[in-house]
Amino acid sequence: MMEAPFAVSANEQGHLTVDGMDVVSLAERFGTPLYVLSERAIRERCRSYRAAMRAVDPQGEVVYAGKALLTTAIARILDEEGLHLDVVSGGELYTALAAGFPAERIHFNGNAKTQAEIELAINAGIGRFIVDNFGEIELIETVAAAAGKRVTALIRVTPGIEAHTHEFIQTGVTDSKFGFNYEGGQAFAAAERILRSRHIVLAGLQCHLGSQILAREPFERAAEVMIQLADEIRSRLGYTVGELDLGGGLGVRYLAGDNPPSVAELLAGMGAAVRSACAARGLPVPRLIVEPGRSIVAEAGLILYRVSAVKDIPGVRRYVAVDGGMADNIRPALYGARYTIINASRLGEANAAPVTVAGRCCESGDIVARDVALPESHVGDILAVLTAGAYTFSMASNYNRLPRPAMVLVGDGCADLIVERQSYQDVIAQDRIPVRLLARAEVAVCAGGELLPVRRDESVGCSARGQLHQKLK
Ligand code: LLP
Repeated sequence: MMEAPFAVSANEQGHLTVDGMDVVSLAERFGTPLYVLSERAIRERCRSYRAAMRAVDPQGEVVYAGKALLTTAIARILDEEGLHLDVVSGGELYTALAAGFPAERIHFNGNAKTQAEIELAINAGIGRFIVDNFGEIELIETVAAAAGKRVTALIRVTPGIEAHTHEFIQTGVTDSKFGFNYEGGQAFAAAERILRSRHIVLAGLQCHLGSQILAREPFERAAEVMIQLADEIRSRLGYTVGELDLGGGLGVRYLAGDNPPSVAELLAGMGAAVRSACAARGLPVPRLIVEPGRSIVAEAGLILYRVSAVKDIPGVRRYVAVDGGMADNIRPALYGARYTIINASRLGEANAAPVTVAGRCCESGDIVARDVALPESHVGDILAVLTAGAYTFSMASNYNRLPRPAMVLVGDGCADLIVERQSYQDVIAQDRIPVRLLARAEVAVCAGGELLPVRRDESVGCSARGQLHQKLK
């Protein structure tokens, strides 16, 4: 077995378990690939964030970043745990509202919000807009005016700080598509503009440095810069910043060497940095907000695959190919992300020579993990990718027309489907065949999903224009 970044448990059969559930049985029951989440682990992380926040700032808020993973069931857990929720699209907002998540605890982030999304958010009565650019300020102003409402906003600031993480997930630097820069004075100008607004109430400032950050220090430097800006806003505009949102970004344990600070350490460090920066300038301490995504769900999740093929290239390497890959987890292909992978069917067995675990998509880059030590793996074995709860399902695609996997939530001794596996019918559900192409169809899908042959000389008899999905009698 590969060294895991944290303890994993096995049962007598040598199978990996999640909260006492045998994952090999889960794979049999629900099929593979399968996303598996521990409800206990998610709730524990929510609670450690809230407890750490209470210790630093009893008025502070923990806002979960839904982009890491959001489904209606996840939104229910977050609501029960008293978190706020950050959304970045109409789809995430709709998911939250459909799950009954209270609108006033929803924050809306993003650099390209559309008018329709802003209307949806204002009509729903969300708690905060995190405004990103001058055009958006005008758009929110217009929509809010038309609706006769006032909305509350934080200004998204790029504080000009580099966090050591992958370039694609680094967001706090000045040349960024996100937010108003601090150095060029845009953030100050945004504050000036919003303070003149009749329909937008300024609540404070927000920044987000990047993701999978394994040190406290960049957050503390960001706090310093943001308080510097708050000071300039107070002295020149007479407005006292009431809220400071330092974003998300805390890293998690993907590999044995990953050693992020604890949530308590991170928040204590942020709190101390904010307090001392305020004290140095005689500023009141703003309410602290954080927006964690990955560090709430990543370690609570894993992906199960079944081995489909084992291929030896003598003298080169052995490939163990699985039934999923970049369509259900794009991170290795997109960022070169590395994961701990274990053979969940053979936990007690000694490792054989390293192998490369290949995904099933038609791209050489679809490699789940390169040169990993696993017990000798056979077709039919279940492999588990650990720390896979964040940015996997949420970034999944139907590449190669693969149906998206199911997701199971383990909790209270039960395993419940919280996202159904897509069927082939789901994969083609939005496809349409124009009537002019229909005459030459050789098969048609009937309402039950089976494929029926249609002879070329036979009329398909579709009355609904452009539809092949029609029950053939
Ligand atoms: N707040 C804002 C404004 C963000 O942009 C993000 C993440 C977060 C909070 C949450 O950050 P977290 O705590 O999850 O690090 N797809 C990439 C990660 C992109 C993160 C984008 N923004 C990945 O798979 O690594």
